[in-house]
Amino acid sequence: MNILGIESSCDDTCAAVVCDGRIVLSSCTASSAAEQNLYGGVVPEIASRRHIEHISGVVRAALDEAGLTPDGVDAVAVTFAPGLIGAVLVGVNFAKGLALAADKPLVPVHHLRGHIAALYLTHPELEPPFLCLVASGGHSHIVEVRDYTRFRVLGRTVDDAAGEAFDKVARTLGLGYPGGPAVSKAAEKGDPRAYDLPTPHVEGAYNVSFSGLKTAVLNIVNKAAMKGEAVRVPDMAASFQYRATEILAEKLLAAARDTGEKNICLAGGVAANALLRETLAAGAQQLGARLYLPELSLCGDNAAMIAAQGYYEYRAGHTADLSLNGLATLGIEEPFPEQRV
Ligand code: KG4
Ligand code: ZN
Repeated sequence: MNILGIESSCDDTCAAVVCDGRIVLSSCTASSAAEQNLYGGVVPEIASRRHIEHISGVVRAALDEAGLTPDGVDAVAVTFAPGLIGAVLVGVNFAKGLALAADKPLVPVHHLRGHIAALYLTHPELEPPFLCLVASGGHSHIVEVRDYTRFRVLGRTVDDAAGEAFDKVARTLGLGYPGGPAVSKAAEKGDPRAYDLPTPHVEGAYNVSFSGLKTAVLNIVNKAAMKGEAVRVPDMAASFQYRATEILAEKLLAAARDTGEKNICLAGGVAANALLRETLAAGAQQLGARLYLPELSLCGDNAAMIAAQGYYEYRAGHTADLSLNGLATLGIEEPFPEQRV
């Protein structure tokens, strides 16, 4: 079964074709990240406008690369929540038009469920149940994946998302957007023990917090500026990265220890972080657990993950009609809107 996936919830316009939820036939992206970098972060209005300009070309390219016409796909899957609403709506409306014109089922996909499905593309043998840390620009969740379409959130951030903290620290250090790769690169030449940054205390065994850590970096940078000194950017980047990845890894490993789950996974844009991957690999080995990581090209936003999750949503009967709307927020565990009544 060939599913066309469409993703436009942030600054990447993506389309892909995936066969049976596991085999990527094509995956195409047009990004407005370079333009967003001029403003130090994503400007929603710019994201929406670029999606409008790029979406038909990106979908056409994904179909061409897969050697298909719209007639040859079995369903159209699209990110409908959560995300920048103007951006989400571009993908949702395009998917609706295509589904109507080609007379194909329309499958709404939750963006974070999509990030988790990126793991099925990298590891064909992986099946639920497993534990997954989903860390992106907007979310940091520790999720029990009970089945392909059933989830339970064990912990989440109580303030900033992990990727958001990387982005804000990068901005404070003058490293540009997106912050995660920039901080990692700067950290390569830094000493992670140079600055002793705080570990937050947070209610809830598996919850995380990044606001205090981010503020600590900001305070050190401001104090140094007032004294006419400069912080050592590589050292600060390394110290921040060390603490942020420690916070994330500890909570996922604690959840694995407490639940006895032996299959643990990482997903989302922050999953590209090499130190986080190494820290979790070492921790999983100590626990006797198996760690599954998405390949680097599938960590950040892409449409292959949406098509993969779309396959499982379709099989569960989760299709929508043309009244489908986009949502800026929606919990990963919540049923689809049309099932709520
Ligand atoms: O999943 P994603 O592409 O988009 C959202 O759904 O938000 O995640 C983007 C986030 C950004 O905040 C970016 O800075 C972060 O992932 N990120 C990283 C790395 N690569 C991307 N954070 C830490 N280390 C990285 N190597
Ligand atoms: Zn994402």
